[in-house]
Amino acid sequence: MIKIIIFLSIILNIILIFFLNKKKIKKIIYKKKIKEIDISKVHEIFEFEKISSNLLGPKENAIIKSFCISPDNKVIGMTSDYEAWILSTLSKISNKIFEFGTCSGKTTFLMALNSPEEAKIYTITLNLEMTNDIKKNNLDNRISFRNIKNESTYEKFLFSGSEVEKKINVIFENSINFNENKYQNSFDLIFIDGGHTYSIVKNDSEKSFKMINKNGIILWHDYVPGKESAKDVVKYLHTISKGKKIYHIKNTSLCYYKNNE
Ligand SMILES: C[S@@+](CC[C@H](N)C(=O)[O-])C[C@H]1O[C@@H](n2cnc3c(N)ncnc32)[C@H](O)[C@@H]1O
Repeated sequence: MIKIIIFLSIILNIILIFFLNKKKIKKIIYKKKIKEIDISKVHEIFEFEKISSNLLGPKENAIIKSFCISPDNKVIGMTSDYEAWILSTLSKISNKIFEFGTCSGKTTFLMALNSPEEAKIYTITLNLEMTNDIKKNNLDNRISFRNIKNESTYEKFLFSGSEVEKKINVIFENSINFNENKYQNSFDLIFIDGGHTYSIVKNDSEKSFKMINKNGIILWHDYVPGKESAKDVVKYLHTISKGKKIYHIKNTSLCYYKNNE
């Protein structure tokens, strides 16, 4: 009897330790294979100003226009505050921007609010009806595929009716069918945050490599090893980072590529 109690308490302790250290254990099992860089290495606009010995603040040109939305909206797949600041700051120095995946239009709105007056922003997305035509390939993660439906519920966006809406061109189309040829070498900034299945991330990335201009920047969202819904994003980025200079931006789920070849 005592042996059984000891055995059960060991098992319970192991389970408890696992749950209490889930994040740390995941970090060991699912290693990041992409080199990490500090945001200050992405662009000089991100260099911080030393306010005091324990406080770093943004420089004048990295102060952005932003907003909050009510948590009652229950929007899924949003960027963190820090990621939103990075995307907004890069928009300040980008005249032509492309986004894969609009969802509620949070990032699109930030890009429009912070980009130069004459900037143009293209954002490609699906509505619910269009998701019926999305095909799951054998390699595609089941949860990422299911999420496409949950995230494609918008016909109107956070920027709809706003002053900056005139900068934005929403393309309702499956990015798999999107013809990138007329946009070759066009964009200063591309944000890849559309479908998170392997086939879609691969498609959107390959099109982005053609559409980015010299010195342009591509950012991918959701590089989170160990997160089930981000599995295909991680797998694709690990594969292409063997041949391309892709970096993971510290303290974010963003990966970064600069087209300076
Ligand atoms: C994670 S959400 C985008 C979040 C948004 N970028 C933001 O920062 O708020 C994913 C979006 O990708 C779109 N999407 C998924 N698969 C797509 C595809 N094959 N073609 C076009 N858009 C797609 C969905 O409709 C959804 O709007």
